[in-house]
Amino acid sequence: MAANKKILMLPGDGIGVEVMGEVKRLLDWMDRKRQVSFDVSERRIGGIAIDTDGVPITDATIAEGRSADAILLGAVGGPKWDNVAFDIRPEAGLLKIRKDLGLFANLRPALVFEALADASTLKRELVAGLDILILRELTGGAYFGEPRGITTLSDGTRKGINTIVYTSPEVHRIARVAFDLARKRGRRVCSIDKANVLECTKMWREEVIKIHAAEYKDVELSHMLVDNAAMQLVRNPKQFDVIVTENMFGDILSDCAAMLTGSLGMLPSASLGAVDPATGRRNALYEPVHGTAPDIAGQNKANPLAMILSFAMMLRYSFDMGEDADRVETAVNKVLDAGLRTGDIMQPGRKLVSTTEMGQAIVAEIDRLAR
Ligand code: IPM
Ligand code: MG
Repeated sequence: MAANKKILMLPGDGIGVEVMGEVKRLLDWMDRKRQVSFDVSERRIGGIAIDTDGVPITDATIAEGRSADAILLGAVGGPKWDNVAFDIRPEAGLLKIRKDLGLFANLRPALVFEALADASTLKRELVAGLDILILRELTGGAYFGEPRGITTLSDGTRKGINTIVYTSPEVHRIARVAFDLARKRGRRVCSIDKANVLECTKMWREEVIKIHAAEYKDVELSHMLVDNAAMQLVRNPKQFDVIVTENMFGDILSDCAAMLTGSLGMLPSASLGAVDPATGRRNALYEPVHGTAPDIAGQNKANPLAMILSFAMMLRYSFDMGEDADRVETAVNKVLDAGLRTGDIMQPGRKLVSTTEMGQAIVAEIDRLAR
C-alpha cells in the first residue's frame, strides 16, 4: 500500500491531547502490523496555540491542513482562555479551519452499542439498536452570517446581532450529501427547519424539496420543525434515519442525540469538503463531538472512544479502508461487551478503566481480530 497518506494531527487542549494519544497507539499498531504507514505531522490549535502563537490557529497550520489528506482534531478551549479577546478565542481556531477548508458537511452518527443501551438516560427499549445520522451544515448560518457583532447605541443601549443566512447552492450541496448518505442506509431523510418563523429556513425547506424532486425520488423525504425534532429525538429517536439541518440546529440536536448513546464521549464526527472533480479528493477533518472536559483533563480519565471512532471514520471516508474501519468499530463493540468502561459510561458491575487502559484494550482487540 502507498506509504504517503498525509495526516495532520491537531490534539488541541484538555482531554483532546489524551484522546489523541490513543489514536497514536492505533497508528503505531497499523504501522507495525498492517504495514500501513501514514505521514503524520502535529500542530497546535485552540488555547495552546493562543499561548504559543498568539492566535488559535496559524495560517501555516491552515495551509498544512489544506494539503493533508485528512485532519484529526481533539478538542479546543478551557477556562484558562475564558477572557481572551472574542476573535482569538480557542473556538475561533476551529471555526476558521472549518470555514477556510470548506468543510460544509458534518456527519455525526449516533449509534448505540448494545452493551451501552443501559448507560443511556433514556429507557433501553427507546435506544437499543439506534443508528441515526445527523448531517449538520457546518460553514453557513448564524455561525458565519453577516452582519454580526455587538454595538452600543447613542443612548447607551447595547445591541447584539447575528444573521442566519443561506444561499440556495449551499442548501443544494448539503441536501445532496444527505440524500447520497441515505441511499447507503435506510433511504429516509428528515430535513429540520423552523419554516414557520424563519424565512431563511423556509427557503431551506423549499430548496431541499427541489433537489429531492429532481434527483432523489427513490429516497423518502420528510420535514420537521426543530422544536418538535428536539422532542422527537428523546421521545422516539428510532423514527429517524438521516437528519439534515442547518448549522446551529445541528449543533444543538447533535448534543442531544449524543446522550441517547450513553455519553458525549461516544460520538465521532467527520467534516467533509466538496469533492474536487479533477482529483477526486476532498478536504476532511475528523473529531469527537465532545469538548475538552476541563474537570477531568490531565487525569487519564477521559473516554477515548469518540476519538477512536473518528479515526475509524477517517479510514473509511478519506482512505477507503473500510475493512480497517470495521475492525476498529468491532473492537470497540467487543471491549464494551467485555465490560470495560471509562467513568462517563460506568455502570454497576463493570470494570472502570483509564483512558490509556481503554486504548490498550482496543489495540489488543484489533490485534486479535487481524490474526
Ligand atoms: C461542536 C462544538 C463547536 C460548535 C464549538 C466548540 C465552537 O460545540 O463542534 O459542536 O459550536 O460547532
Ligand atoms: Mg456542539
